[in-house]
Amino acid sequence: MGKHLLALADFSGAELAALIARALELKQETKNGIHHRSLGGRTVALVFEKPSTRTRVSFEVAMYGLGGQVIYLSGWDTQLARKEPLKDMARVMARYVDGLVVRTYGQEIVDELARYSEVPVINALTDLHHPCQVLSDVMTVIEHKGPLDQLKIAWVGDGNNMANSWIQAAARLGFALALACPEGYEPDRDILQQARAEAACPITLVHNPAEAVADADVINTDVWASMGQEDEQLRRLAVFRPYQVNTSLLRAAAPEAIVLHCLPAHRGEEISEAVLEGPQAVVWDQAENKMHIHRAILATLLN
Ligand code: CP
Ligand code: NVA
Repeated sequence: MGKHLLALADFSGAELAALIARALELKQETKNGIHHRSLGGRTVALVFEKPSTRTRVSFEVAMYGLGGQVIYLSGWDTQLARKEPLKDMARVMARYVDGLVVRTYGQEIVDELARYSEVPVINALTDLHHPCQVLSDVMTVIEHKGPLDQLKIAWVGDGNNMANSWIQAAARLGFALALACPEGYEPDRDILQQARAEAACPITLVHNPAEAVADADVINTDVWASMGQEDEQLRRLAVFRPYQVNTSLLRAAAPEAIVLHCLPAHRGEEISEAVLEGPQAVVWDQAENKMHIHRAILATLLN
């Protein structure tokens, strides 16, 4: 298994499946009152250059739950804010802590930290990927829908960091993925090409949401303007309007389809209030599962 988790393609399908299986076990054990303290005496630093509710809190709770400690550093708290080179930051931090969990902008930032860090670097969201999130989302799908190879999963909306990680998950874990994105807002072309080259199941990309959602077992969406794209918000609102996940779109899906959203959600934009609050949405399970997957990731990569 690789040392760092920068993108899902860093791991084999078997390794990703093992992380999800471990998270499912840990979730069950927690509910039965069994706790592991395998990271006693260990410390991770969370270096977050963008806001976070779920990822930050669930990583912190995961680490404390495993007996370890956390240091949270926001964008302004380190000398990165004053342009200290990433390679210096990485080598210094590795002398103090046992892992770095990083949320930032360019993927090249986590790549550079990983190149110089002697301790694992975990991507907690970049502009290109959100790998830990998609692992917990796949875990949620397995809980609600069973084995992945029989499923059709749809992605509706922006071809963003989440979409890119879903594409890599489909290729490695083996499930059919149908994406519908507006023209000009497609996922990363190289990621898609690479994933299709290795995938056993189809990964399709269309512009029509109803086509992607047809008979889908799972429907996924995410915000139309990601963190860092605030100045594009208005233009995106107009372009993405036909991509809202609402009750009418849901009718095209399989009758028992579940709806995922990594949150935070913008009701009335990418998802309607009725769908988000309706019986098919599993977003609260999805949010909980972030904590279990983070425990599995920390316990695996730091040991
Ligand atoms: N889903 C997710 O990553 O949420 P946060 O931005 O709150 O961490
Ligand atoms: N695509 C979103 C995900 C937020 C968790 C963003 O990058 O802002």
